[in-house]
Amino acid sequence: MDHHPLLAHKITGDGSPIVLVHGFPLDARMWEPQIAALSRRHQVLTLDLASFGQTQTATPPTHLEDHAFDIAHLLDHLHLDRVTLVGLSMGGYVALCFAERYAHRLSSLVLANTKATPDTPEAKHKRDEHVALVEQKGVSALAKALLPNLLSKAAPEKLREQVVSIMSAQPVEATTRALEAMRDRRDTTHVLHDLTVPLLLIGSEGDTLMPPEITKAMKQAQPDAELVIIAGAGHLSNLEAPDAFNRAIGAFVDASAH
Ligand code: MLT
Repeated sequence: MDHHPLLAHKITGDGSPIVLVHGFPLDARMWEPQIAALSRRHQVLTLDLASFGQTQTATPPTHLEDHAFDIAHLLDHLHLDRVTLVGLSMGGYVALCFAERYAHRLSSLVLANTKATPDTPEAKHKRDEHVALVEQKGVSALAKALLPNLLSKAAPEKLREQVVSIMSAQPVEATTRALEAMRDRRDTTHVLHDLTVPLLLIGSEGDTLMPPEITKAMKQAQPDAELVIIAGAGHLSNLEAPDAFNRAIGAFVDASAH
């Protein structure tokens, strides 16, 4: 892969920096409701992970750690010393890799709809099936297959279309390599144990991919963490329940600053 590509990014607002790391197979556009709300009082940095969205790379990353290096490189480039890092789902896997290596760059950490444990054998098998699906039928076929697990049944049609459209726009290779990187990811539970900065864990009641029990189990590894379970939202809680999601992060960042 390119050595530390400069990730495509956008900065909105002023104040303490909050960096938002997107899920799979998505890009920074999934954070629109957060940019609008959180940038009123904070500097919000959104980015496209390497080979997703507007970040083009010759070869997509093959390890989630590569994405963590890229984020550190971007923070260096922007002269941002310490940030609140927010990762949702795959973004959470990346945020945990970042916290493992760059704990000193964190003022606090938010992990939403994600987990620290690795894929089970069944989940690894599903990843391989998804790689084959993308190679044979394209990313839009994967987008359709994933959608029922990303949004709850109550999600509006417009939101479904928006999520499918962002997913379908991602390059084939970015998608297949990310599936393999997620399949091969390590257990990062020790990162939760070792964390010394404030941690907010967000889950949602209707998340079938990362049910609330998984979010609650993460709190066992870091009992000081704050835990918020959002009612009536599926996996992409930031899009299905943006007000609750933004409130949780806003209150957490304010409290962490004291
Ligand atoms: C995501 O939303 O980023 C993915 O569903 C995570 C995963 O497949 O493990």
